[in-house]
Amino acid sequence: MGTKRYAIVTGAASGLGRAVAVELARRGWHVALADINPQGSQETLALVEQAGGQGQVEHLDVTSPSEWSVLREKLQSAWPRLDLLVNNAGVGVGGEVGKLPLEDWQWIININLYGAIYGCHTLIDWMKQNSQGAHIVNIASLAAIVSAPGMAPYNITKAGMLSFSETLYGELKPYNIGVTGVCPSFFPTNIIRSGRFQTSQQRNAAARLMSGSRATADDVARRIMRAIERKQLYVFAPASAGVYWRLKRLMPRVLLNLIARRNARASAAAAKA
Ligand SMILES: NC(=O)c1ccc[n+]([C@@H]2O[C@H](COP(=O)([O-])OP(=O)(O)OC[C@H]3O[C@@H](n4cnc5c(N)ncnc54)[C@H](O)[C@@H]3O)[C@@H](O)[C@H]2O)c1
Repeated sequence: MGTKRYAIVTGAASGLGRAVAVELARRGWHVALADINPQGSQETLALVEQAGGQGQVEHLDVTSPSEWSVLREKLQSAWPRLDLLVNNAGVGVGGEVGKLPLEDWQWIININLYGAIYGCHTLIDWMKQNSQGAHIVNIASLAAIVSAPGMAPYNITKAGMLSFSETLYGELKPYNIGVTGVCPSFFPTNIIRSGRFQTSQQRNAAARLMSGSRATADDVARRIMRAIERKQLYVFAPASAGVYWRLKRLMPRVLLNLIARRNARASAAAAKA
């Protein structure tokens, strides 16, 4: 690739999106910070500039195909090419099937899954024109693999993101566009605060799992940088999360029973707290 590289990061106003934008900035990238939260995006821009990169804040609701088109037109007229798309924007929903309102299913599927579909739909033909090759990063989750009870809407969006990444991997290989599907386990961000949970007990259980994690958004972002450089399809972060992936392939019911027991313990602890 040339000296200056150009990226779009969705959900860049917070958490992992911010950490990815800053890591790209450290490597000299120019990053479009695409989010619905202008204040958070401005804060990320300041961090990007401190880290030695360049950035621009772009308002983007990933659930809007027309906002994606406007973004493409604007960037295509200003940038020589698009080197990287990071589909990171995401939200959480917790609760049981049959009890959760259908609006919450629609909300999360629109953001977590359609957001990435619209992004790829809008930008892939521009990326194919990049003679230096390009890359797409889709942020899935370990939830795609472990299918924890009480998280069905989240789990299906993340399983969808993983399948989407695997499909794009084959479709885009002839165009020298790499694809990475990222499956992190918990790391602390604002996702629980902004998420929709059926009960406060479920929110507390998710918060406990998150606060008990030693991983950080910065760790995951650095792992993503390596995957882009090496054109790796799968990222499990931390590396120990890869154990779940192997267990799922070898002994899926053992894994699902393990996760169900762990989930019941976390719910009981949250109920007592
Ligand atoms: N935090 C974790 O434990 C964890 C684990 C695995 C995967 N992930 C995934 O990482 C990604 C980032 O989440 P995070 O944990 O950093 O959460 P976060 O809440 O800190 O950040 C999410 C960002 O997405 C933005 N966003 C939400 N809806 C949007 C929309 N419609 N259009 C544009 N932007 C929108 C928010 O404004 C926010 O800036 C998500 O896809 C999430 O599912 C997180």
